[in-house]
Amino acid sequence: MKIANYQGVIERYRRFLPVSKDTPVVTLLEGNTPLIFSPKISEILGEKFRVFLKYEGLNPTASFKDRGMTVAVSLAKEEKQSAVICASTGNTSASAAAYAARAGLKCIVLIPQGAIALGKLAQALMHKAEVIAIKGNFDDALRLVRDISSHYPVRLVNSLNPHRIEGQKTAAFEIIDTLGDAPTFHSLPVGNAGNITAYWKGYKEYYSYKKASHLPVMLGFQAKGSSPIVEGRPFKKPKTIATAIRIGNPASWQKALEAKEESKGTIDAVTDREIVYAYKLLASQEGVFVEPASSASVAGLFKLKKEGYFKPFEKKLKRIIITCTLTGHGLKDPQLAVKKVKPPKVVEPLLEAVINKANI
Ligand code: F0G
Repeated sequence: MKIANYQGVIERYRRFLPVSKDTPVVTLLEGNTPLIFSPKISEILGEKFRVFLKYEGLNPTASFKDRGMTVAVSLAKEEKQSAVICASTGNTSASAAAYAARAGLKCIVLIPQGAIALGKLAQALMHKAEVIAIKGNFDDALRLVRDISSHYPVRLVNSLNPHRIEGQKTAAFEIIDTLGDAPTFHSLPVGNAGNITAYWKGYKEYYSYKKASHLPVMLGFQAKGSSPIVEGRPFKKPKTIATAIRIGNPASWQKALEAKEESKGTIDAVTDREIVYAYKLLASQEGVFVEPASSASVAGLFKLKKEGYFKPFEKKLKRIIITCTLTGHGLKDPQLAVKKVKPPKVVEPLLEAVINKANI
């Protein structure tokens, strides 16, 4: 039998992670996701641009959360916890449920009722988590799980748990390992702000180990109806089609601002219309199907280009490398996808009818 070499992010980046030889590694072989060159988006941005898509939808539960969850659940197991808990807009719950199932731990997830994508709900239920839908939003759910985990014997596995950030920083390591250096810019969507915190930590650490010659400029994007960091105030009733980032009071708000300030980057907002435009473009012109929240990172690049943000860099640099995190797979939210495109054409089962409709 051929044994695969790749053993997940803990084995690959063990020396950068808070694990020991006694840690029982709970892995589904997450990470090692492709960095796909995007000819279309590069062309739209301009001659000097090379845009690469870090397709995190290809993780075991189809989002970037698995990188953090392997570390958080392995350490929960090592510390003899019997249960994990999280609040979630969907992906964290899917990932926590899968890794807990694998580890033999109980998993409790709180989700905002009626506000998570169908695929994510199916995952949490199939992996046998205790799924509790609350009549409130993500921020209410997070407040509750913080409270519960500080009073009951359950381990919090939201990104407030530093082990999650440790695991997620490995995406930045992979990018540098693949490109041979850090990109000029790194773009990603921002919700609870754990991931921008993790990438910035990863880039800084690898830079300190001289694995990169410079640090990237970080570009974070919130959805306009849920843009507390951009506006500088919590949103009581966050709104956006991108349910994954429908968050009004991000837990890692301050850390996101640090990433922005230290990297001399920006955190900006994109409208739902801009998100859907990028969502459809990625699927129809690059063959990459992501969930709406993920496409905020691409929508943001288009917005900055239009505003002339890149002009000073274009003057100064010969080449501009942008990496863009596509956080989750498009199949997570099939209901939204079919709403946003034309339905299939229906015909009688006759050759002529098919030829006609297919425009051959
Ligand atoms: N993209 C997707 C697909 C997400 O699921 C999330 C967060 C983000 C982006 C934003 O990442 O929170 O680290 O800034 N989803 C969390 C969840 C909140 O519960 O699944 P962030």
